[in-house]
Amino acid sequence: MCQFIMFCSLCLIVCELFGSRLTTHSSWLKAYQFFFSCLILFTLVSCKKPEFKATPYEIQIPRHFPTQLNIPSDNPMTVEGVALGQKLFHDGHLCGYTGSDEAQMMSCATCHNPQHSYDIGTDNPRFPGGQPVGLSGQPTHHVPLPLVNLVFNSNGYLWNGATTSLEDIVLATFTDPTEMNSDYGRVVAAIQSNSTYPPMFEKAFGTPEVTIDRIAKSIAQYVRTLISANSKFDKYLQGTEQLTPQELNGYVLFTTEEGADCFHCHGGGGTPLFTTNLCYNNALDNVFNDPSDRFSVTGNVMDHGAYKAPTLRNIAVSAPYMHDGRFKTLDEVLEFYNTGQKNSPYVSPLMHHVNDGGVLLTPSQIADLKAFLETLTDEELVVKN
Ligand code: HEC
Ligand code: HEC
Repeated sequence: MCQFIMFCSLCLIVCELFGSRLTTHSSWLKAYQFFFSCLILFTLVSCKKPEFKATPYEIQIPRHFPTQLNIPSDNPMTVEGVALGQKLFHDGHLCGYTGSDEAQMMSCATCHNPQHSYDIGTDNPRFPGGQPVGLSGQPTHHVPLPLVNLVFNSNGYLWNGATTSLEDIVLATFTDPTEMNSDYGRVVAAIQSNSTYPPMFEKAFGTPEVTIDRIAKSIAQYVRTLISANSKFDKYLQGTEQLTPQELNGYVLFTTEEGADCFHCHGGGGTPLFTTNLCYNNALDNVFNDPSDRFSVTGNVMDHGAYKAPTLRNIAVSAPYMHDGRFKTLDEVLEFYNTGQKNSPYVSPLMHHVNDGGVLLTPSQIADLKAFLETLTDEELVVKN
């Protein structure tokens, strides 16, 4: 097509040169010249390679949610990028195992299971109890975290809040001996050798080239789409579902200082992520020897034994609990907050009841609090994916 227009333009140039010798400048010639210029312009435009454009992916911000999104400018969300990332997230070939036994492979979903709010769960077939071991045979430093509403977190990811970049976390996962234990070259080769991928890379990034950077970017895009905002509690906030008196009582306890006093760090109706995404020492221990706590990031002595307060959304399905997974049930967690708090110079000043050893609720109040926490499960998210 482009060549054809070029050919026509050349013919016209010849005609014009020939025509201008025969005639003086008449008005038909001016019109003719105008037409000729337009054609040249059109030729230039049509010969330019069309610019690559994927379909923008719009994050639907749920009602009441913060509007600030953590999306780096060099990795805009696209429908094609998210589709690629979703496939890669579930692909066991990303890991360092090179054999053909599927059961030995490891994908992101091995440790981040959709049914457990993208956390590991205590019924994980490969890691019973929810304590993962990487392909090198070494256990992870901490237990996994759930992967919901991460696009709304600009304060810091990981248990110690060390990074605000999802792309960096994905890249580190590939080579970490306690996780996928591979190297970038092997990851790229494994993905490239599957013929379904190059066309997907072309749709997402403009060329079929598979690079580690593109793999990390598309997985990060997918993780940013994992939004949980449709629990019974959300429906209560929107006025479409009622909480039981027990659940309502639990909610009041959760959000009052003289009650269970949970809301400073874990949010509530006004902080609907159910976390501030900040780090605190929540009086879990009084001896600190974890080399990867918040102190290891900031060097501030007051950060000994401090960790990010995880979201309480889907908390009923995302055991085990705490950075080391020491609690397997919500009952154990509530018992700790109720009577097991340990004082130390590093405890957050927001742990108002630490001098009493806990919030000292009655058994029926604890049952109410648990009933409220169970309203934070988003059945749609858990079933959909
Ligand atoms: C062997 C198990 C394992 C695998 C496989 C794994 N992760 Fe993780 N993931 C973890 C653990 C453990 C943590 C918590 C690390 C810490 O903070 O110490 C974590 C944390 C994260 C976080 C931080 C979440 C937050 O709220 O701060 C993200 C994001 C994440 N993983 C994404 C991924 C992606 C994407 C993949 C696949 C490329 C993946 N993970 C594969 C175990 C795993
Ligand atoms: C001072 C801030 C603070 C307060 C107040 C607080 N928490 Fe926490 N919470 C944290 C931190 C920090 C962690 C993670 C600690 C760790 O892993 O060592 C945590 C962990 C948890 C976990 C485990 C989450 C997971 O995914 O492993 C649950 C459940 C929980 N808190 C519920 C509550 C409840 C219920 C209350 C009120 C009784 C409460 N918290 C009060 C800061 C707080």
